[in-house]
Amino acid sequence: MNLSNLRFNLTPEKKRHVMAMVVGTAVSWSVAGLMACSSALHAQKTDSLYQQLGGVAVITQVSDRTMDRVATDPRTKRTFEGIKLGYLKQSVAAYLCKVADGPCAYEGETMANSHADLKITGSEFDLMVETLREEINQTQAPNSAKNELLRRLAPTRRDIVKNS
Ligand code: HEM
Repeated sequence: MNLSNLRFNLTPEKKRHVMAMVVGTAVSWSVAGLMACSSALHAQKTDSLYQQLGGVAVITQVSDRTMDRVATDPRTKRTFEGIKLGYLKQSVAAYLCKVADGPCAYEGETMANSHADLKITGSEFDLMVETLREEINQTQAPNSAKNELLRRLAPTRRDIVKNS
């Protein structure tokens, strides 16, 4: 059978009806597509780094695990002797939250003041950042957010390292 010979026997009124349905469906799909795109763009634009990282629960977990590790790692533990780790973990979590534009109040000292007497070396600093990176990598946050947090912390090196 030759398909091109097929004819639809429609009255002019039915043809108009079919055309209206086709146009209507195309318009609905385009509007739905535009709405999906604009809501994806909106989410990208408005999610703060804090939200992208997973909020306070994820930031606290990253801080806790990082501090537990650096406070016991033979290469970094010397500065943590006699320090109240529970308080320090909370303070570091609040600091990271603030750096990520989160809704936290960081009430601690500046990075320069809080590390002034510790004589922290470049390799101690790098090890802490590496530990932080490993712990962030355990989370589900997008890579761009993980890198952005580390990028924002990088300038603290010059305030913290006093013995390079
Ligand atoms: C990106 C790197 C670092 C960040 C963001 C950071 C952040 C902080 C924060 C927020 C505090 C608390 C300040 C306060 O509550 O007043 C703190 C204190 C402290 N940090 Fe760091 N720190 C970093 C690197 C390091 C390194 C590399 C070491 C040692 C290996 C270290 C050892 C300490 C110690 C021992 C304290 C407690 C000081 C005290 O209470 O006298 N930090 N840090």
